[in-house]
Amino acid sequence: MMITVTVNGQAHTRDVEPRMLLVHFLRDELRLTGTHWGCDTSNCGVCVVHLDGTPVKSCSVLAVMADGHEVTTVEGLERDGELDTVQKGFVECHGLQCGFCTPGMMLTARWLLDRDPDPSEAEIREAISGQLCRCTGYENIVRSVRWAAESEAAS
Ligand code: FES
Ligand code: FES
Repeated sequence: MMITVTVNGQAHTRDVEPRMLLVHFLRDELRLTGTHWGCDTSNCGVCVVHLDGTPVKSCSVLAVMADGHEVTTVEGLERDGELDTVQKGFVECHGLQCGFCTPGMMLTARWLLDRDPDPSEAEIREAISGQLCRCTGYENIVRSVRWAAESEAAS
């Protein structure tokens, strides 16, 4: 099937199998490997991207379902060579260790801050509750999101 998906502001047209998952479309067709693939059973959340502005697990979405829609991946967070504040927060507060969960965590955090610029620790933990970090106790991830919230409030 021919589909056209706008990814990080750029339209991509490809002929794909109807069964292809969005995560494989992004990684294998577009070579956007910042979107990770972990469990393939909708449990880990490393594959989270934005679909029309909403975080989705891209292993649970068919590529054809994204036809005519807009997708943002971690590669799209940076603007004009400048990291998003959430990305800066993860750098400042050591929000990652192996980095496997990090792209999805950052996309969910961006979505959260766009809706609630001053989330509590509990609200941050709830927002990322569908995503697993295999490395940490989530402390530094939460701290990173709070850093981004405070940094955006001060700017
Ligand atoms: S790979 Fe999508 S939730 Fe784990
Ligand atoms: S930093 Fe390793 S899985 Fe989260």
